[in-house]
Amino acid sequence: MMIYNKPLSSAAFLAGGSLAMAMILYIFRKKSKSATSLATFTLGKAKPKTKVMKGVVEPPSRTASSELTGPVIWVHFGSQTGTAEEFAKIIVKEGRKQRMNMKLVDLEKFDASRFPGSFGIFLVATYGEGEPTDNAKQFYHWLLERSGGNSCSGMQYAVFGLGNTQYEHYNAFGKLLDSTFEREGGKRMLKLGLGDDDKNIREDFEDWVKKLWPALSEHLGLEQSSQQWMDEGVQYKMQVKAHGYTKPATNGCSFQSSNALDAVHVETLRVRENRELNKGGERSCRHVEFDILAPAVGYETGDHLAIFPENDMSMVKALAARLQVDLSLYITVKDSDGFSPFPCPCTVEEAFARYLDINSLPRKSFLVALAEFARDGSERERLLKLASKEGQDLYHQYVVLETRNLLDLLNDFPSVQPSLECLVELVPRLQSRYYSISSSNLVHPRCVHVTAVVVEKKYQDGRSFHGVCTSYLRRLHQGDIVRAHLRKTNFKLPREVSTPVILVGAGTGIAPLRGMCQELEHRKRMLAPIGKNLLFFGCRRPTEDYLYEEEIGGWLENGTLSRVHTAFSRSNDTLGGGKVYVQQRVDENAIQLLSLLDAGACIYVCGSTAMARDVKRVLCQSLIFLRRMKGNGAEAFLEDLAKEGRYHQDVWTT
Ligand SMILES: Cc1cc2nc3c(=O)[nH]c(=O)nc-3n(C[C@H](O)[C@H](O)[C@H](O)COP(=O)(O)OP(=O)(O)OC[C@H]3O[C@@H](n4cnc5c(N)ncnc54)[C@H](O)[C@@H]3O)c2cc1C
Ligand SMILES: Cc1cc2nc3c(=O)[nH]c(=O)nc-3n(C[C@H](O)[C@H](O)[C@H](O)COP(=O)(O)O)c2cc1C
Repeated sequence: MMIYNKPLSSAAFLAGGSLAMAMILYIFRKKSKSATSLATFTLGKAKPKTKVMKGVVEPPSRTASSELTGPVIWVHFGSQTGTAEEFAKIIVKEGRKQRMNMKLVDLEKFDASRFPGSFGIFLVATYGEGEPTDNAKQFYHWLLERSGGNSCSGMQYAVFGLGNTQYEHYNAFGKLLDSTFEREGGKRMLKLGLGDDDKNIREDFEDWVKKLWPALSEHLGLEQSSQQWMDEGVQYKMQVKAHGYTKPATNGCSFQSSNALDAVHVETLRVRENRELNKGGERSCRHVEFDILAPAVGYETGDHLAIFPENDMSMVKALAARLQVDLSLYITVKDSDGFSPFPCPCTVEEAFARYLDINSLPRKSFLVALAEFARDGSERERLLKLASKEGQDLYHQYVVLETRNLLDLLNDFPSVQPSLECLVELVPRLQSRYYSISSSNLVHPRCVHVTAVVVEKKYQDGRSFHGVCTSYLRRLHQGDIVRAHLRKTNFKLPREVSTPVILVGAGTGIAPLRGMCQELEHRKRMLAPIGKNLLFFGCRRPTEDYLYEEEIGGWLENGTLSRVHTAFSRSNDTLGGGKVYVQQRVDENAIQLLSLLDAGACIYVCGSTAMARDVKRVLCQSLIFLRRMKGNGAEAFLEDLAKEGRYHQDVWTT
């Protein structure tokens, strides 16, 4: 029996109980004492050594490979925006500290020749309509092809799914993978873990990972108790080195970032036009057109554009002033394994503007860390209270409902002066935001359009919260350069041009439907016999946010659309028909919709997850009442439509 005699450390990265919190405070205090003044930092020359083997992301580790013992434990991730990857890395780091032979695998680069292996841990997010992430698709199809062949025999596995209960197919891919492994002969080490991004996915992960270590110990035959794995608490891993005030000789990054976000293929787009769409009301909705600069890059109607936003400079400057740090200072940030969380060296300004989500709502672990930097005892107590279990409601009100970001917090707690190490460790990486492209490549082959409602909340105390990407979009001027990534989707019009289409959207859900109308109009102009096409559109008021009203009128006039059904949710005038939601219009027109479906029509629903759920519910009810179907029969009917590629959804949570 193997017994590891290395010091034990934590799997948890957030502390819930008071013991863990005390541990964290102890470690932070130790770090604060040993902190060196920024000005005395120097740039180390050594580059991190990276060993590369097919499909394996091998971070250099303080625990040399030769010290790692036992069978290889493959830790796979299927991730779109980085959360599953981040969780997988936490497991690998913690496992390696225990000298477990852990290897990180991006499912995109999965190597079939070494599958299944003896031990597999899988952290997988669900996307689309219950589908794998882009980087896990190939792996999943490979697995499906081997279905029934006992292809996972000999593998002991554990799966943690990342999902969101707002979506209809909650954690579908994680569940599917877990059951497929079992069916294919794998042995489950630990019950499937489900993380809900609508609530607190980090706490879900923390709870699951607490059980993972004892389960692994048991299956590896190690003598470890679950308590031992938990004892040490979280540690700072980031180190910040300042280079003085001059630009480094290398023009760009000399250190590789270990973040998958930096591996994504990034396009540069140039703003052609940026205009307001709303005709009234307090909200702003922007129509932004971007020229695609690279000749080889293109898109198709219905695709997504992921935009890499930048934080507002006034906030960046205010934060730097509050932290008393020079924005022009060049820094290199590395974790204890030598990896950088973003491209380095960079200026503090770049780090604050491009890489750190300084506008995000601070997590409880961050509040605990900030408490350690409070010079005023009562401020320290208040921060710890907010982060405690008893302070749950207070935290929800003060941070979540009243949307307080880091700067708001620092303004409310003036004695708190956190270090840069603390910020780069605990402020999340600024993510790209997805937008459904609102143009058609057939009409605008070198230009993508985006339709975005600006997120803005105002509070009585004079504060306001601005969404990062939508306020970035609002600030853009003609000629500005933007970093973005084009993503393919299955949200596509039927190939057969005469197939009728039913388009249902609310608010900015009109975006991809506009692209589709452009494509339908283009087909019509090419003299193709287009089908009977309906648009259902919902917004607040006809005089406020009826997006692209003139264009829609034009499509109705020239026969691209046969009928447009509008629903105004905040209108009292008779023109809009009172307070109506788009699903009600779908309900009122159910007879026509079902007969179009009989004729082979395809449905496209776009907007919030809640609206899409309601539209589906209304269609189910119509099938029950008008077609005398049973409840599950109606659901199965719509499921079948989706499988046939005739029921499409492009939805997101707000
Ligand atoms: C596949 C996909 C397609 C999308 N397509 C579009 C699109 O075509 N047009 C579009 O406008 N958005 C679209 N979104 C949403 C978009 O990605 C952003 O989430 C949104 O623009 C807010 O980003 P932000 O950076 O401004 O806000 P953040 O800085 O991320 O702030 C988020 C905060 O704002 C709140 N919030 C987010 N959206 C809203 C809202 N609409 N109203 C009120 N509060 C909100 C959130 O609850 C959260 O508290 C899409 C999302 C996905 C996943
Ligand atoms: C466009 C989109 C589609 C999604 N679809 C689903 C879904 O069908 N089921 C689900 O449980 N979660 C769904 N989610 C939620 C993600 O799985 C969840 O946010 C997860 O934490 C993302 O992990 P990642 O950052 O590793 O990609 C979706 C999220 C987005 C943005």
